[in-house]
Amino acid sequence: MKITVVGAGNVGATCADVLAYKEIGNQVVLLDIKEGIAEGKALDIWQKAPIDLYDTRTIGVTNDYSRTADSDVVVITSGLPRKPGMSRDDLISTNANIVRSVTENVVKHSPNAIIIVVSNPLDVMTYCAHITSKMPRTRVMGMAGILDTARYRAFLADEINCSPKDIQAMLMGGHGDTMVPLPRYTTVGGIPVTELVAKDKLDAIVNRTINGGGELVKLMGTSAWYAPGSAAAQMVEAIVKDQRRIFPVCLKLEGEYDIDNCYLGAPVVLGKNGIEKIIELKLNDEEKALLEVSRQKVTEVMQVLDNIVEKS
Ligand code: LMR
Repeated sequence: MKITVVGAGNVGATCADVLAYKEIGNQVVLLDIKEGIAEGKALDIWQKAPIDLYDTRTIGVTNDYSRTADSDVVVITSGLPRKPGMSRDDLISTNANIVRSVTENVVKHSPNAIIIVVSNPLDVMTYCAHITSKMPRTRVMGMAGILDTARYRAFLADEINCSPKDIQAMLMGGHGDTMVPLPRYTTVGGIPVTELVAKDKLDAIVNRTINGGGELVKLMGTSAWYAPGSAAAQMVEAIVKDQRRIFPVCLKLEGEYDIDNCYLGAPVVLGKNGIEKIIELKLNDEEKALLEVSRQKVTEVMQVLDNIVEKS
């Protein structure tokens, strides 16, 4: 299996590293437009192979998409990260042009690839890649839900003082202030989380999750990379190993949840064909209302992208 990661910044390099050391594919191509950076990071990852004992070949290239040809999965991490004080949506005009041109190149050289978008603003960059690629919606998706649920699960593990391995959670909506964590669909070792954590504490954890990316931007002056890189690699693994794992993934909704033509996170089964199935949860009125707020917000930003596309 050949996997390409476009963008050798922190997230892309972390994703390539995880793909390599977990031997998720047998070849990982890391591509960047900055001369030498992808080559250097890929070489560094390859030189770690004798220490960590893996044999995934990791190759770095400067903007040469012919070297990515016939990739099975392509992860797009290109674009600027945000700085303190910025929202993800502030990145749209810069990142839209980058994601569009990257997607054109990806599709030209790997027409059968499954594309995973990581660039922000995530939901709208997934929209951008999807319309540019002209591929079915099952093959172009965004990574955010695994990251957001991971943050939520980590915070819960701290609160309960238990292993994060035992926390299962689901979350929907956009990757931003309107995301919809679902405590009703959160369990700890099979026990509903609501039986273990008091409502005020749970509300505080949900709120911290919603602002989880911003908390890290504030601390580090730039966006996070370890959890985002691993989350994208986990999606690749589910696809290349046809694991049929159930994850929240950003995709175009076409009537599911009574939402049409909007890119939002929803639970899906991920396997060799990409999105194998969309799972429709029974949401209560409060959850439906939160999802509607998210739909409105993402739709607004999709319209900003439409204007950018029209003008170019
Ligand atoms: C994240 O949630 O870590 C990413 O979307 C990056 C960001 O700017 O928050």
